[in-house]
Amino acid sequence: MRRLGVNIDHVATLRQARGGISPEPVVAAGIAELNGADQITVHLREDRRHIQDRDLEILVKTVQTRINLEMAATEEMIGIASRLRPHTVTLVPEKRQELTTEGGLNVLGQREALHKAVSRLRDAGMVVSLFIDPDLSQLRAAKHVGADAVEIHTGTYCEAFQAGNSAEVLRNVPVLRDGVLRNVPVLRGELEKIRVAAAHGRNIGLKVYAGHGLDVRNIVPILTLPEIEEFNIGHSIIARAVFIGLGPAVKEMADLIHVAP
Ligand code: PXP
Repeated sequence: MRRLGVNIDHVATLRQARGGISPEPVVAAGIAELNGADQITVHLREDRRHIQDRDLEILVKTVQTRINLEMAATEEMIGIASRLRPHTVTLVPEKRQELTTEGGLNVLGQREALHKAVSRLRDAGMVVSLFIDPDLSQLRAAKHVGADAVEIHTGTYCEAFQAGNSAEVLRNVPVLRDGVLRNVPVLRGELEKIRVAAAHGRNIGLKVYAGHGLDVRNIVPILTLPEIEEFNIGHSIIARAVFIGLGPAVKEMADLIHVAP
């Protein structure tokens, strides 16, 4: 069964807006788990704009599924991860001014530094994933630096989906098979890049995850790609939770992911 990692950063964003104690991300993690989340994902940013060190410290003691810690490959963060030992560390690029993580890691351009960071985290017992764009040279570099997994950045695909509609993503093309003309769905554009990257990642022995910008609509074509075993989703779930509650918002996404073949 494929996994849903629920990113609870934006519960902390809301708390930080008033600098108080509510809403509590640890409670959100519990509700997410009770409603089908297979993992809790948090991004401890250098500027601590949402998740705080104390959140992570409590989460490692209370989360019953797994924790996926997104972080920059800095000395400070490697130290925190090695002390608290979440199940998975996802290395992401980080810029102070960005609203959210804007693109994948340039693994190719920093192979030596990432090789060291990945080795240290793996030696401390964590699964290491690299957040990358659907780019074959970055996938090969991720394998080269010793990563266990890659999380494919789906942000550009989600923007394309938003600009068009689901019909832009899948179209039926008549193909002659066994002497019969059949309509075969063909993936277009950004989705095709993700399909090729996911298949290549699996071929070279990487676990393949996906995330960024996914919601209940745009994830449907992505669920046709069998290589992707985990999805990390935050903003759309927390945004829907404002209207329908966190439990139902997690459950509808978990049900979608878990019933997909
Ligand atoms: N995966 C990674 C590596 C991310 O940086 C983020 C955003 O924090 C997500 C997944 C979740 O993205 P979204 O909030 O758009 O669902």
